[in-house]
Amino acid sequence: MLSSFVISSCTIPSFNLLLRATFPYRVRAFAISSRLRNPTLFLPPPFKPFFATSSSFSSSSSSSSLNPLNACGSRTEDDSLVILGIETSCDDTAAAIVRSDGEILSQVVSSQADLLSRYGGVAPKMAEEAHVQVIDQVVQQALDNANLAEVDLSAVAVTIGPGLSLCLRVGVQKARRIAGKFNLPIIGIHHMEAHALVSRLIDKELQFPFLALLISGGHNLLILAHDLGHYLQLGTTIDDAIGEAYDKTARWLGLDMGKGGGPALEELAREGDPESVKFSIPMKQHKDCNFSYAGLKTQVRMAIESRNVNTDNPISAADCQDRKSRADIAASFQRVAVLHLEERCQRAIGWALNIAPSIKHLVVSGGVASNLYVRSRLDHVVTMNGLQLVCPPPNLCTDNGVMVAWTGVEHFRMGRFDPPPPADEADDFVFDLRPRWPLGEEYAEGRSEARSLRRARIHPSLTSIIQAASHQ
Ligand code: KG4
Ligand code: ZN
Repeated sequence: MLSSFVISSCTIPSFNLLLRATFPYRVRAFAISSRLRNPTLFLPPPFKPFFATSSSFSSSSSSSSLNPLNACGSRTEDDSLVILGIETSCDDTAAAIVRSDGEILSQVVSSQADLLSRYGGVAPKMAEEAHVQVIDQVVQQALDNANLAEVDLSAVAVTIGPGLSLCLRVGVQKARRIAGKFNLPIIGIHHMEAHALVSRLIDKELQFPFLALLISGGHNLLILAHDLGHYLQLGTTIDDAIGEAYDKTARWLGLDMGKGGGPALEELAREGDPESVKFSIPMKQHKDCNFSYAGLKTQVRMAIESRNVNTDNPISAADCQDRKSRADIAASFQRVAVLHLEERCQRAIGWALNIAPSIKHLVVSGGVASNLYVRSRLDHVVTMNGLQLVCPPPNLCTDNGVMVAWTGVEHFRMGRFDPPPPADEADDFVFDLRPRWPLGEEYAEGRSEARSLRRARIHPSLTSIIQAASHQ
């Protein structure tokens, strides 16, 4: 399913990062007032590489191998950069072209919802194949819709983590081919940072610092965004993310997964009584900002069994009573799943205001943030605390290329990017992918005793890499 939105018009030797003292090529940019195909040239800031040259995730040398970032006034406010963003970290193949003044020139998403619904989850090998099949078409359509060719681009941004290695690889390979062939700088993007920063594209008033709740299929994060690339993690999930709980519950209730489990469950929940099943709120006794959804999933499973819902029977075949039972479970699940978010956000706001009293906004983004019930409940929490909620529109909450391109714009302006890869890079080149890549350092006081996070093979956080580099 290819959809396009046209809005106005391992450790692993790696991104082949060579340190160069000066920027060896010219960056293409557009004068805002000129026609799109009328590029003007400008000289970019001196090159400051963004990625580690290290060949190991686990080694701390990957952060220390970076050179200082923006240490020499390399920031550019140029409003006419044109950046292609590519996203393949999970089950959506997405590309978009965004100009640095915030104009979205094109946006294309190819969803694997049909695969998900057939196989009950993301199977990495199958997802990889699906990305491979459509990536060229998706990128070409993004260029066509923007009425641009590769030579018109200023840089290519691509998600390098976190996500599924096999899937990330497809996007990174495509990005490097384009960047190599057309001599373009390349910017490696953190998927969750992109979810957070896309809110700065839609709300120009949104300044650092701000608080962000990022809720998706694989992540539940509460972060304090001090500055670009500088994040403090106030909370994370100790087991599953909320999106995973929505998807599992939807599947168990026999919903049509064609448009995704989350949206299907949100729709059914509107018919149900949210007070009818007494689920308990997760982690009540833990006075921190971490999350847990595994226990709630178990409670849902038990409720389904005790109400004799025949989960092999699709909802379309359910009689009136059966449909009502399922809707009650859906509504009750959603109420408690979101109450857990509300409680954590309430506490996080208190913490964040202590650490950075100038905070005015809570950003809520990631696929689950497209849910209207989630948005309205969190809006209430935020308003009660005298803050403002910033929620991207639904098609920018779920995975998309715009968030990657925009985050590319933000880092590029700060001089964080890599030089073009060689045009003749070998097909078996091993890329710098970061499947498990924390966004920020943990807030020490927020560490949960209940935590059971798997810590093996985690890449140093984006924040620690950038900070280490800037202190060199
Ligand atoms: O950010 P995202 O598109 O991909 C990941 O990075 O995981 O988030 C996908 C998740 C899925 O679990 C999906 O079911 C959920 O977001 N989701 C929703 C809704 N739309 C998407 N969950 C609840 N309600 C929705 N309307
Ligand atoms: Zn996502």
